[in-house]
Amino acid sequence: AMLRIAIQSKGRLFEDCMSLLSEAGVKLSPSKRSLLVQASGFPLEVLYLRDDDIPQCVADGVADIGIVGLNEVEERGAVVDIARQLGFSTCRLSLAIPAATVYEGKSWFEGKTIATSYPSILSGWLAKEGVKANIHVISGSVEISPSVGLSDAICDIVSSGSTLVTNHLKEVEVVLRSEAVLIAHPLISEEKKQELEELIFRMEAVQKAKDKKYVMMNVPDEALARILEMLPSEKSPTVIPLATPGWHSVHTVISEERFWSLASTLKACGADGILALDIEKVIL
Ligand code: PRP
Ligand code: ZN
Repeated sequence: AMLRIAIQSKGRLFEDCMSLLSEAGVKLSPSKRSLLVQASGFPLEVLYLRDDDIPQCVADGVADIGIVGLNEVEERGAVVDIARQLGFSTCRLSLAIPAATVYEGKSWFEGKTIATSYPSILSGWLAKEGVKANIHVISGSVEISPSVGLSDAICDIVSSGSTLVTNHLKEVEVVLRSEAVLIAHPLISEEKKQELEELIFRMEAVQKAKDKKYVMMNVPDEALARILEMLPSEKSPTVIPLATPGWHSVHTVISEERFWSLASTLKACGADGILALDIEKVIL
């Protein structure tokens, strides 16, 4: 049997999941909108589900692996292994209250009613903080409940924060930090485990490339020593003589952040024709 992955059929994780899989060489026909689709380029079956259903589906072994927000894994209490943190769809599960309300600390929530789709995580947090509040469970449109008098506060996912702003709410406590994770059924066959290892290997190569740039520049000989000193030296940069005497081409791989912190100084030191290119995959 083929390794089967459950991913979100639409929503916040969908686009990033699809591009991660595609960059890892797992090709999926965009036209096929059925529930179960076979990939090409990698032996994998893709099961499209609601994110809420993914943890249980992997815990039950209906899918061997899945990509879902850590928030959903925690809320469902599903028994799955977290095979890898994927670094995208970062968000937080937060408590928010009407923007005009004065907030002096966690005790504000004492005796209040909080609307949420995450009752399990929230009740755990309240117990840990020693706050007694009422939880009102709703499955959607949580953000409107204070304005219609359904609750005093909400506990919901915050990503950009624009939903809170639109609904005149302010975030006052972070309950859980979340991101997309690759989860796996705890007991998969040896054969499937090897496929999973290969998939993780490929995802890692894509992730490592994400914030890296391949940087090239032309450097006059008198500035060469100085510029080589400035560049990170995990592996020494490649230095190639140019056809024009007195110049070298210097190539190296650095993070985007590092690139920007160095770019103007490199230029001021005499580097010319500085290019920064995207890297697709990195295997170390
Ligand atoms: C969450 C949450 C808000 C929105 C917040 O929904 O319920 O609606 O995201 O994002 P923002 O801070 O960028 O405005 P989610 O995407 O998890 O959808 P779901 O609850 O339907 O799964
Ligand atoms: Zn959902």
